[in-house]
Amino acid sequence: MDHFTYKNNQLMVEDVSVKDIVGQHQTPCYIYSRATIERHWQAFDQAVGTHPHLICYAVKANSNIGVLSVLAKLGSGFDIVSGGELARVLEAGGDASKVVFSGVAKTEQEIAYALEQGIKCFNVESIPELERINKVAAQLNKVAPISLRINPDVDAKTHPYISTGLKANKFGIAREQAIATYRQAATMSHLKITGMDCHIGSQLTSTEPFVDALDRLLVLIDELAASGIVISHLDVGGGLGVTYNNETPPSPATYAAALTERMQGRESLTLIFEPGRAIMANAGILVTKVEFLKQGEEKNFAIVDAAMNDLLRPALYSAWQEIIPVSTEQQRENALYDVVGPVCETGDFLGKDRELAIAPDDYLAVRSAGAYGFTMSSNYNSRCRAAEVLIDGKQIHLVRERENLKDLWKGEHKIP
Ligand code: LLP
Repeated sequence: MDHFTYKNNQLMVEDVSVKDIVGQHQTPCYIYSRATIERHWQAFDQAVGTHPHLICYAVKANSNIGVLSVLAKLGSGFDIVSGGELARVLEAGGDASKVVFSGVAKTEQEIAYALEQGIKCFNVESIPELERINKVAAQLNKVAPISLRINPDVDAKTHPYISTGLKANKFGIAREQAIATYRQAATMSHLKITGMDCHIGSQLTSTEPFVDALDRLLVLIDELAASGIVISHLDVGGGLGVTYNNETPPSPATYAAALTERMQGRESLTLIFEPGRAIMANAGILVTKVEFLKQGEEKNFAIVDAAMNDLLRPALYSAWQEIIPVSTEQQRENALYDVVGPVCETGDFLGKDRELAIAPDDYLAVRSAGAYGFTMSSNYNSRCRAAEVLIDGKQIHLVRERENLKDLWKGEHKIP
């Protein structure tokens, strides 16, 4: 369930109509629902039940400060992949001691910043990275808590661009090298081994790959313990899928039950989850205005004011996201459209072959746009990035102003 519903022919976000929101903030505009974010986070948290756990929301899915502040107030942890994401978390009121730092190439600066802030753990992906963290920690006279990201070599059966747990992927340390790498980490003076982690991919629609990965990690954890290295947390990554169209991913409850079942008798091992999409995707929409309707020789086009620079997923992954009218008040004729943006590329589309009853100046909402929407947006074609709005009941909070022309060349310089 989410909080995007029709009332009197108007699409509502919680208690506010989208028409009123775009009346105030124009289009293209991302709109998020606080109640939906909270509901999704709590569903996750409750699903894990009594097993000791921490939900570390994956900031890359949506890093808006307003969104992060909602999660921080819930007591969420955060999974970050850069110093920039850490700065956002702290600015939003997040607790550094609940932050895990993922990513294959953390810089010395980022490591130092994270150590100074006192994050919970570095999720480490290679021996050179272990050495770098050890060196920076020694310089700062600190001890860095670390986990090794193990590549469990399971097929997540998702889009190849977002599958990360196969041998052929760049991520993590091979299972066969795991124990030796932990042993090596144990010899480094400024590291403290605290965990093991994995992340096998994103938009997974069955529990099996998650359970397979967990089983493989538990075998390693037992082997490690036998060799005297005892860890205190197991981070299973993110990746739980959502319904964009007709996918039927497991609910957080089913997913968590499948994992916690394997954890019986292991209560000393805290479970960490890093969900991004499952919390944010269906908590946001992208609203766009129909500029023109154009009849091509073979197709009808609805040319809208949002483009691939605003929402890249359709162009990059051929992702399908539902497109619905903001108002169903007016009677219009149905037709089949490709919904396309103003950017000069054939790949610039938000949806293809969509049956819509629309006219110029109507508004459309692209659903499931709360995750990997704004965060993947760009200024391509020198387009100002969209406004972001967070709805809380009746209240409309502008959480990011629409960019203006001067923002486009901020930091650039003419030469004499
Ligand atoms: N943890 C790690 C280490 C990750 O790399 C990711 C996502 C997550 C957690 C969160 O995964 P989620 O729960 O959101 O599936 N841009 C793509 C998705 C890329 C995901 C990258 N890693 C998309 O729009 O589909």
